[in-house]
Amino acid sequence: MKTVCGIDFGTSNSTVGISKGEAFAMVPVEGTYTTVPSAIFHPADGAPALYGRGGIDAYNAREPGRLMRSLKSILGSALVDEKTGVGGRYLSFEEILVGFLVYLKVKAETFAGERIVDVVMGRPVHFVDDDDAADSRAESKLESIAKQAGFKRILFQYEPIAAALQFELELERDELVFVADIGGGTSDFSVVRLGPSHKRRHDRARDILANGGIRVGGTNLDTQLSLAAVMPLLGKGVMIRKGRDLPAWPFVDLATWHRIHTITEPKNLNVLRQIQSEVSGDPKFERYMHVVREQSGHLIAKNVEDAKIKLSTGTDASINLDDVEKGLSVRARRRDFESCTASEVGRIGEAITSTLGTAGVKPEKITAVFLTGGTSAIPVVRKAICAPFRNAKVVDGDRFCSVGLGLAIDARRRLAS
Ligand SMILES: Nc1ncnc2c1ncn2[C@@H]1O[C@H](COP(=O)(O)OP(=O)(O)OP(=O)(O)O)[C@@H](O)[C@H]1O
Ligand SMILES: [Mg+2]
Repeated sequence: MKTVCGIDFGTSNSTVGISKGEAFAMVPVEGTYTTVPSAIFHPADGAPALYGRGGIDAYNAREPGRLMRSLKSILGSALVDEKTGVGGRYLSFEEILVGFLVYLKVKAETFAGERIVDVVMGRPVHFVDDDDAADSRAESKLESIAKQAGFKRILFQYEPIAAALQFELELERDELVFVADIGGGTSDFSVVRLGPSHKRRHDRARDILANGGIRVGGTNLDTQLSLAAVMPLLGKGVMIRKGRDLPAWPFVDLATWHRIHTITEPKNLNVLRQIQSEVSGDPKFERYMHVVREQSGHLIAKNVEDAKIKLSTGTDASINLDDVEKGLSVRARRRDFESCTASEVGRIGEAITSTLGTAGVKPEKITAVFLTGGTSAIPVVRKAICAPFRNAKVVDGDRFCSVGLGLAIDARRRLAS
């Protein structure tokens, strides 16, 4: 059998699973970690890009350069073809992402001790909501990126199906499973028949009753928390003059992981300076401009994310805003977080109902709910997922590695022989 791999290129974190000989394994993709943040830092001096925690650390240490995160979110948009200045060169986001996939490929090959050219790439059920053309452009773009990174045979698999294949490894009896993978950028669902008697069949297509999903994930919840709790301290809601509000985009972009780096593009800086002169010295908007000057948008987003994560177990958290102004912070309570994200969580619930509808399965028939993805740790999200399933046991998978390992299982099935 050939050694093959599965790549879970995630909005927030990426993993690689390999199938080598009889074994499946997760590749250490950064030091001994089997996950690597999908973060890319280009030093200003043109030195090679740094990936993952290494890139984030360089940015946190205020090394000159540009940090980009959550670039999976731009795959279906025109932004992926735009060029941007990094390290004294102009690169398209596509080229920037090729660098990241080369990084993952090299890690897999180093671990396996051999060249790997066959891959199953994970993909969300919908990269883009309600736009099939943009959705298939996103997949083609990812395929082209994988090809440029050196892969020869590239197949795709839905992320929740990959998670299901991993869950199936541990099943001792047949189950009708609702899989929910709630990640950083998307929520993905599958209704599948899993277990020993199904596993034996060669063609599994009949076991997949439905796939569904929506482009809502943890990064969207970060955006909402930031807009509700942090951005008002940076000028959101300030009026330019009576009856004329500041535009929303500077705040939305600063609160949105995959757009933070766009704020310092020259055309945006010009508009921001114009706004600054129109609100003449408004102290809150001065804070905004301070953040832009210092390029501390990612530090703020990280502190918002940290507070959100604390709210999964606690009811109260403080968002550190030292990078906006020394000593500044804001309190975030779980109930406020739940109210500012109610619409996103409601949409996750609707997508679950719609997936069950497509499957033609009544929720009480589901015997197991398999949860994976970092955002499945959020109590209100778990509640929304589990609510319809009265007769199901709830099983938590490895939140960050189920998909990568499942992709390796799929890669062995489809590519290894
Ligand atoms: N304990 C936690 N509580 C709440 N959210 C969490 C927790 N741990 C991680 N997250 C969130 O989970 C998200 C990342 O999850 P994950 O790594 O599964 O996403 P991903 O696979 O990169 O994204 P996607 O599959 O959507 O492309 C982030 O938004 C992160 O803030
Ligand atoms: Mg994921």
